[in-house]
Amino acid sequence: MPSHVEIVEVGLRDGLQAEPVFVPTEEKIAIAKALIAAGLKHFEATSFVSPRAVPQMADAAEVIAAVRQPGVLLSALVPNAKGAERAAEAGVDAMVVFMSASESHNLKNVNRSRAESLRGFADVARIAADAGIPVHGAIATAFGCPFEGIVPVDTITDIARQYRDLGIETISLGDTTGMATPTLVKERCRALAKAVPDAEVALHFHNTRGVGLVCVYAGLEEGITRFESSLGGLGGCPFAPNATGNICTEDLVYMLEETGIDTGVDLEALIEVAKRTERAVQHGLPGQLMKAGPRLKTYDMESVRTAAG
Ligand code: COA
Ligand code: ZN
Repeated sequence: MPSHVEIVEVGLRDGLQAEPVFVPTEEKIAIAKALIAAGLKHFEATSFVSPRAVPQMADAAEVIAAVRQPGVLLSALVPNAKGAERAAEAGVDAMVVFMSASESHNLKNVNRSRAESLRGFADVARIAADAGIPVHGAIATAFGCPFEGIVPVDTITDIARQYRDLGIETISLGDTTGMATPTLVKERCRALAKAVPDAEVALHFHNTRGVGLVCVYAGLEEGITRFESSLGGLGGCPFAPNATGNICTEDLVYMLEETGIDTGVDLEALIEVAKRTERAVQHGLPGQLMKAGPRLKTYDMESVRTAAG
């Protein structure tokens, strides 16, 4: 097991993008600052996509401008050259290009084929290089597709190789609709370690079928040290059926710390931010630690009814 894991907080992007109620920009900024105070240092903070496609992300530049600070890494999703220009102008620390492993989800998500997406990424890479900004690569539907079912592992390694050819060093496998299992995680991590041995691999799970943290554990056993999660378990892709929240950051921190893995995150403070976020999105969130509290929290016996008869 690694001794330290880097958590990428994606709640402000993957978490909020499907929320129907627009969270005011000031509130997004306040949540981001509270997360930084709780010890999180790396954020996928927003996306520079079409505001017509994802209205919740229309304030991308304002969020980046207000949250940027030394020691904090802000990455943002960019789908095309226009997104890259906007992201460079806003001063992101990293751009994340993304395509789906399956053709059908890529068409739904960005209205173009995978080949067209990849061609556009060459322009993104050039714009990013000119601005001195690194590019990360995300592969969505990497463990299965809601329209096509099984996604062959060779498709993942092919995309990863093409990302490497563009100079991308960090590659994240995204489980858009929670189809990953520990067995698939191990298979795909091993295949990537062979196909792109010099790339850093990150894992991005959704807890749609209740095995998100088990998949993290499988990834840890394969030596992965970067995981993406969302505060409160907020999240879901607007362009996939039955997409539910990401794995929950508090629950992830809890599992890692109790496994002896350092995250640098203050769990109590994080739980408070998750509760604040529930108010911001105006509904409850699936995170479990925010409801149960830490494992060693004890209660006054008088506060609980005694069984009788
Ligand atoms: N930022 C802002 N506006 C953008 C943009 C970007 N990155 N890319 C395109 N646009 C605008 C164009 O300027 C154009 O505007 P106009 O009609 O006022 O001239 C309009 O969007 C259509 O442009 P086009 O290139 O034809 O894009 P499209 O309609 O085929 O949409 C995407 C393609 C990628 C822009 C769109 O599907 C998208 O933003 N998808 C995001 C999906 C997402 O975020 N999914 C969740 C994350 S996994
Ligand atoms: Zn996701």
